[in-house]
Amino acid sequence: MHASRNEIPAASGTLRSFMTLEQFIIDHQEEQAHSTGAFSRLIRDISIAAKVINRNIRRAGLLDVFGASGDINVQGEVQKKLDVIADEEIVRALRRGGECCLIGSEEQPDTISIGEAGDGVGRYAVYFDPLDGSSNTDVNASVGTIFSVYRLDEDADRSAMLSEVLQPGTEQVAAGYVAYGSSTMFVYTTGEGVNGFTLDPEIGEFVLSHPDLKIPNHGKMYSVNEADVEDFSEGFRRYLRWLKAPDESGQRTVRLRYIGAFVSDFHRNLITGGIYMYPSSAGSPDGKLRLMYEANPLAFIAEQAGGAASNGRNRILEIQPNDLHQRVPVFIGNETLVRELERHLAESVTA
Ligand code: AHG
Ligand code: MN
Ligand code: MN
Repeated sequence: MHASRNEIPAASGTLRSFMTLEQFIIDHQEEQAHSTGAFSRLIRDISIAAKVINRNIRRAGLLDVFGASGDINVQGEVQKKLDVIADEEIVRALRRGGECCLIGSEEQPDTISIGEAGDGVGRYAVYFDPLDGSSNTDVNASVGTIFSVYRLDEDADRSAMLSEVLQPGTEQVAAGYVAYGSSTMFVYTTGEGVNGFTLDPEIGEFVLSHPDLKIPNHGKMYSVNEADVEDFSEGFRRYLRWLKAPDESGQRTVRLRYIGAFVSDFHRNLITGGIYMYPSSAGSPDGKLRLMYEANPLAFIAEQAGGAASNGRNRILEIQPNDLHQRVPVFIGNETLVRELERHLAESVTA
């Protein structure tokens, strides 16, 4: 790796060296299997779209972007105006960049084919959730963007059935998210660990702030919509009781945090340690979260950070997808907490 750092004045007035996302991608380009400049440009294009989305979110109260767009998306959910804006920005950035030949979005019913692939350029497929937790926008709470990148074979027939193009999460060449929280962060992996970059609004660049992120082993946060507890399985309810049981000294060690945006809950638990859960329930046997653009990318990041991601029985990344919008139960975070969850669910099946 060739370190190429810049320097900016720190608060103390001394110079502090820093590395931008773009420099980091270029410096690490040769570590990629199938390394190409096209891949670097693809990540850069997504980061540019993220900055535009960030600008809209930060000024949301001043612009006419709150509330519903008036449309319903393919999942039957009300689209927020910011959902539509974020979707348009990412589609525009990916079309302009020309590195990808196929895109799939939560807000679009079908995948969109772009141009013709050729000579290592235009061979990427990108699936994304343009705005995750979008009901949070109207109340000034955290939201995110999630993306998942695959590289299609040169001879892949992109006009074929989508189910022939969709690959399990193990085949992702990159995945990441942008968390629009009290600061804006771009976190991504290419299978060589996880790195986080914080947007410096003064210079308009994502700057490396969280190198080689690892989820702490002794996590104490758990995140689940416990309002649905009566609809959860007996095995899952027993797991929740196990989580909350006091330790030997009579202390309850876990805390509940639920922002209602998968990215934000996942990001907090990645930093502090813990588990995020969206289980199946009586009325939703596959849960709520979507495999291709919510579960798979964050599962890739969780594993690269030393954690785990399961649907309750199997590794999420090994699920063979058959639909762009298919749903999957999600248990993601500290490996020990995820394995204990699997044990509770398995026990209740055999009981
Ligand atoms: P989206 O806004 O992209 O549709 O995602 C919302 C998802 C997820 O981000 C969040 O964790 C979950 O919905 C919250 O759902 P509940 O309100 O059912 O807890
Ligand atoms: Mn979402
Ligand atoms: Mn969304």
